[in-house]
Amino acid sequence: LDHETILVERKGRTALLTLNRPKALNALNLQVMNEVVAATEALDRDPDCGCIVITGSERAFAAGADIKEMQPQGYMDMYLADWFTAWDRLGQLRTPTVAAVSGYALGGGCELAMLCDILLAADTAVFGQPEIKLGVIPGIGGSQRLTRAVGKAKAMELCLTGRTMDAAEAERAGLVSRVLPAGALIGEALAVAETVAGMSLPVAMMAKEAVSRAFETSLAEGVRFERRLFHAVFATADQKEGMSAFADKRPAVFRHR
Ligand code: HXC
Repeated sequence: LDHETILVERKGRTALLTLNRPKALNALNLQVMNEVVAATEALDRDPDCGCIVITGSERAFAAGADIKEMQPQGYMDMYLADWFTAWDRLGQLRTPTVAAVSGYALGGGCELAMLCDILLAADTAVFGQPEIKLGVIPGIGGSQRLTRAVGKAKAMELCLTGRTMDAAEAERAGLVSRVLPAGALIGEALAVAETVAGMSLPVAMMAKEAVSRAFETSLAEGVRFERRLFHAVFATADQKEGMSAFADKRPAVFRHR
């Protein structure tokens, strides 16, 4: 696959996708969106890929949607192109995804990070939804996912004032799972991805689906959904392998079946 705005590397059962528009701080124009979505959907169809890491540069994960591309657009342009809708497909991948965020994750950059399943931050990371300063609002789910991640108090303040959060505040607020020294970010993100990719792929997919369902439904419905999936994993060969390996005191070797 040929890409101009991203780099995709395979490392064993993991994939590393690097946003690569350094001169624009990885601003997310439509080409970036289309390339990220096409590349991740191809990886999602590959049974030999068990986890996808998405990262940017040291200075910027992504400084937002591309302001210069949006500036001349009118309502009918945005509506007819259904601007940004393709990003939703990133959130619908079955393969687990990890965002490794260093530097700016603003506007669409913060939204892209929140579309991923695990969010790791370098101590240099800066998160925010500063769209209001440009006379617009978040458009890739930021008003919804940030609110679910950190609660109304901080989400409302960030969306109404454009204030940004540093990595420590983002971790306290529950937006990121861990903060790492900048130099350790990619190594740790790849290690996390390798761990996830070493699990049974169908079972990891079901675990992801179960946690994701918590954001879509009531507690009782969510628990019922989990219970169905829990029963279903007993149809996998990997459940037999995982539990036999425990009994035999040896590491499990999953076959992703
Ligand atoms: C297009 C961008 C960009 C963006 C940076 N650049 N962010 N281009 N869209 N979102 C470009 C700059 O124009 C500049 O290009 C180059 O990247 C370097 O940026 P500088 O501003 O010179 O760097 P610095 O002074 O270090 O400031 C970094 C920054 C600032 C604080 C991140 O760039 C910034 O505030 N960017 C915008 C952040 C933002 O508002 N994001 C939300 C976007 S709206 P040149 O050619 O001049 O060198 C959004 C909406 C989503 O995401 C959905 C709603 C519609």
